[in-house]
Amino acid sequence: MTKPFEKAEVQQTIINALKMADLMEENRELARAVSRKFEFEGLVGSSKKLRDVLEMGGQLAQVDTTVLIQGESGTGKEVLARAIHYNSSRRNRPFVVVNCGAIPENLIESELFGYRKGAFTGAVSDRKGKFEAADTGTLLLDEVAELPLNMQVKLLRVLQQKEVDVVGDPHPKKVDVRIIAATNRDLYALTGEGGFREDLYYRLSVAPLYLPPLRERREDIPLLVHHFLANLRRRFDKEVNIEPAVMSELQAYHWPGNVRELENIVERVVVFNKTGTVDMNDLPPHLLRASRSIGFGNVVMKLPEDGFSLEDLEKNLLHEALRRHGWNQSQAARYLGITRNTLIYRMQKFGLKEQTLE
Ligand SMILES: Nc1ncnc2c1ncn2[C@@H]1O[C@H](COP(=O)(O)OP(=O)(O)OP(=O)(O)O)[C@@H](O)[C@H]1O
Ligand SMILES: [Mg+2]
Repeated sequence: MTKPFEKAEVQQTIINALKMADLMEENRELARAVSRKFEFEGLVGSSKKLRDVLEMGGQLAQVDTTVLIQGESGTGKEVLARAIHYNSSRRNRPFVVVNCGAIPENLIESELFGYRKGAFTGAVSDRKGKFEAADTGTLLLDEVAELPLNMQVKLLRVLQQKEVDVVGDPHPKKVDVRIIAATNRDLYALTGEGGFREDLYYRLSVAPLYLPPLRERREDIPLLVHHFLANLRRRFDKEVNIEPAVMSELQAYHWPGNVRELENIVERVVVFNKTGTVDMNDLPPHLLRASRSIGFGNVVMKLPEDGFSLEDLEKNLLHEALRRHGWNQSQAARYLGITRNTLIYRMQKFGLKEQTLE
């Protein structure tokens, strides 16, 4: 600052200092929240939905069953599979990933089961398949829904017999592999459409896990952002804070690409940030456009562009609060931060009564 002090300049400096103090307090709060978070091998989140999956994952790590992980793209299926393996008794054995959707159809069999020298033109030496590579360990069959039907039959046989038919070898080979299958498709629905064999579906889905999309567990977003910021701080030696308004915006967005998309956006804003603080202008425009919503406290609402009825909104909120508390008026009033009398007055105003059939 240069002398003589301009009044506006002084004010701006004070405002900036206060803003900084707020941010530091918010970061401390987040750090506290993070220390309370539930973590399973790098999978971060505090929502009930995620905690339930991680808890089941933790239990499944202790047993040797086949696991099927379903969830939209970017929800963390591969990290969860890894977490299960590295918490299992096979943790010191190989963890092998095969992306069933990425291998050309005519190569899948030799990729999975391997081949012997001379099995076909070009097979100049023996080659181990993924099953053999994963022997005594875990094999993640990623994008399992993309397996062609004829390969599904062969896979089912391997799972049942615990042996593989190496291409060009008349003798089946014993393998001891724990299978984790993952897909972003609804595998059961696919069986109905003939895209996935029902018998294989039942064989794979002994222990099904479902990772919910990020938009259904928004309370995980601040924790994830903080987690990614901490990683980036280590990676780039760069300390960047996020304004509370930006955090609300991130929490309101619908995240079609789930955690992967969030991770990429956080990295992008950190990399391009010059001021040490991420504000609204730093967010990609598509994100702002997509989430024209308001947030206060822990409530996030999307408001329609073309207006709405405040009375209807109030009525619906009252109704929801009552329904959630089994129509207990004292509890619903406390939930809404109003007195019981006020609640009763408003219930009468809107003609709200307990519906017996709810
Ligand atoms: N709960 C979480 N905590 C921390 N990082 C996560 C979490 N969930 C996902 N990630 C991160 O998000 C990214 C995507 O995760 P992953 O590759 O496991 O998703 P996926 O479900 O396998 O996606 P796809 O279907 O596209 O293959 C990874 O970088 C992963 O580390
Ligand atoms: Mg994946």
